Amino acid sequence: MIEIKELSKVFTLSRKMMKEAKVKSNKKIAVDHLSFTANQGEIYGLLGPNGAGKTTTLRCISTIIKPTSGKIYVAGHEVQEEAEAVRNSIGFLTSDIKLDPQFSPDYMFDFFGRLHHVPKDVLKKRKEELFSYFGITEFSHKKMKELSTGMKQKAAIAVSLVHDPKIVIFDEPTNGLDIVTARKVTDYLKKLKEEGKLVIISTHIMSEAEKLCDRIGIIIDGTKVAEGTIRQLLEETKTENLEDAFFRYYQNKKKGEE
Ligand SMILES: Nc1ncnc2c1ncn2[C@@H]1O[C@H](COP(=O)(O)OP(=O)(O)OP(=O)(O)O)[C@@H](O)[C@H]1O
Ligand SMILES: [Mg+2]
Repeated sequence: MIEIKELSKVFTLSRKMMKEAKVKSNKKIAVDHLSFTANQGEIYGLLGPNGAGKTTTLRCISTIIKPTSGKIYVAGHEVQEEAEAVRNSIGFLTSDIKLDPQFSPDYMFDFFGRLHHVPKDVLKKRKEELFSYFGITEFSHKKMKELSTGMKQKAAIAVSLVHDPKIVIFDEPTNGLDIVTARKVTDYLKKLKEEGKLVIISTHIMSEAEKLCDRIGIIIDGTKVAEGTIRQLLEETKTENLEDAFFRYYQNKKKGEE
């Protein structure tokens, strides 16, 4: 289970960043008093436009960056007080962690397996299973830098699952993948859910959220503007599909700011 209570993250911008973003303040509120709970056995989706704060939230949950304020509990462990225990219970996939270009998927898998103290025989079995499922076996000994975007993404997914984590946090899991591979990934996420795991994904692809997620939290400008099952969101907005519902929430939020 993941519990987020009043999470805020404020970035301090450099002069260069302020100039690029054309802002006068050196503070950027990326996440603003965000709270939500996601449970074992569900796929929870953070849905929001570019810059909404999805990646920032997932990085706070995964102990990559520190919250400015608020508390996050992952499987009962608070992220700042028990970071190591949090890291052991999660698998984290992000577009900004690059696997070392000099090494192969095979090497990286074994390396992270040892880091997580996965017994040798278990590691071998998991590697066979994941590499065969994602079609990594054919290029498992090539260097990362020689792989295509999709191949790298598949390898990163397998590596993030090396220790069979009970909570899986995937930032835009199908980014850069063709539809066949994207389906393999979403099917695998469903399988993890069936096994009782908690899967949290971020996405701005409405159809993906619609097909995959049990519950969705819509985030705009770092705040949660809606939460529920697809059916609840459609009922609340009196719309027929998630895209229309999303626009309803988006317009309401912008209207409220005027
Ligand atoms: N390290 C950082 N330093 C300064 N500002 C940052 C940093 N990381 C993120 N931001 C800013 O915080 C806001 C939220 O960014 P974030 O990456 O969380 O959005 P996102 O919802 O993941 O968007 P996308 O759909 O484009 O991936 C953006 O305005 C972004 O520019
Ligand atoms: Mg992002």
